[in-house]
Amino acid sequence: MIALSSDHAGFPLKEEIKVFLDSKGIEYKDCGAYNTDSVDYPYQAKKACDLVVSGECEKAILCCGTGIGISISANKIKGIRAACCTDYFSAKYTRLHNDANALCLGARVIGAGAAIELVDVFLNTEFEGGRHQRRVDQITEIENMQ
Ligand code: RB5
Repeated sequence: MIALSSDHAGFPLKEEIKVFLDSKGIEYKDCGAYNTDSVDYPYQAKKACDLVVSGECEKAILCCGTGIGISISANKIKGIRAACCTDYFSAKYTRLHNDANALCLGARVIGAGAAIELVDVFLNTEFEGGRHQRRVDQITEIENMQ
């Protein structure tokens, strides 16, 4: 189960991602936005990330205008490792090396075609573990110091 969320700027891209997920038979929970009426990205990030932290969803896909505001917000939530990606390599390696559990996309930055490629590789790449596990554990340690 994938948690989806966006603000108003990310809404059109989120809708395109839903079409892709439907075509692959991947289930999701849509936390809004449900239209292009203005809605603030921080709580939109939280709605989807809470589903990941609770274990209800495995990963989140978050869309705003740049992908940045929603990723900054998501990374404030304990247990979330959110990566704002615009290229295939980063979307792949943030899974392999960072065990990222939230992919953030900028609807005003990349087109839906490219974004869907990133979603596809992000959802289909497993964490490599090994030496990368130690580093991810350090991220958690730092998070727990706050
Ligand atoms: C909304 O206008 C815009 O600021 C937001 O979608 C996002 O780009 C923020 O980082």
